[in-house]
Amino acid sequence: MAVNNPSDSLVTLTKPRSPVSEAYRTLRTNLEFSSLDKPVKTMVVTSPGPEEGKSTTLANLAVTLAQAEKEIILVDCDLRRPSQHEIFGVNNGVGLTTMVVDDEAMADPPLQQTSVPGLWLLPSGPLPPNPSELVGSRRMEEILAVLSQRADTVLFDAPPVIAVTDAAVLSSKVDGVLLVINAGGTKRDHAQKAKALLEKVNANLVGAVLNNVKMDTSLHRYYAEQ
Ligand SMILES: Nc1ncnc2c1ncn2[C@@H]1O[C@H](COP(=O)(O)OP(=O)(O)OP(=O)(O)O)[C@@H](O)[C@H]1O
Ligand SMILES: [Mg+2]
Repeated sequence: MAVNNPSDSLVTLTKPRSPVSEAYRTLRTNLEFSSLDKPVKTMVVTSPGPEEGKSTTLANLAVTLAQAEKEIILVDCDLRRPSQHEIFGVNNGVGLTTMVVDDEAMADPPLQQTSVPGLWLLPSGPLPPNPSELVGSRRMEEILAVLSQRADTVLFDAPPVIAVTDAAVLSSKVDGVLLVINAGGTKRDHAQKAKALLEKVNANLVGAVLNNVKMDTSLHRYYAEQ
């Protein structure tokens, strides 16, 4: 796959003036205001179940944060179905799991440059047999500390929170959690269960994103599609 060839998922790059891109910028602003007293430097994005838009939401949020002249590291901590390397068109040969086993990678993280200035991607790297254990390890905490020193904000992609423990475990180690809810797909009791699981580990739930909402077309004429 070609390097720095942003996929169609990156609407904030391909259609920066579209209503959807505007919505991501609103999300950025809302997050900035929701955490005035306690800045969220490290944040996980998860959702109750699979394919609800976690990775797409996170990738576009990362782009809009970088466009606001922040230094951002996006970490693919979905060690089961990683997709950030595909979204950004970078190689997944080395990444987060390399840092777990390799001290040199720990000292010099294998961050991949993206086409967005200020946005760096740490892909998952080769998939491990024991993702939950790895995410819950002391080494993971060291990785978090190393990455935090190198950026204004470190964002983590994660698997669904109901399906496996990885997202809840990671949530207990970071400053904030953003929950993606799919307007067309997430069941109400699944959303409640996800919230309960996160509260159980004392996660700081900074907000929820309602993905896949049908827009009121009467508003479209105020925006120029580009
Ligand atoms: N708002 C949206 N409108 C249209 N398509 C979307 C939207 N959000 C996500 N998608 C598409 O839905 C699919 C799943 O999205 P994505 O990979 O972001 O979900 P996910 O929750 O990260 O999935 P997984 O559980 O596999 O990690 C992708 O093909 C993505 O392009
Ligand atoms: Mg995903």
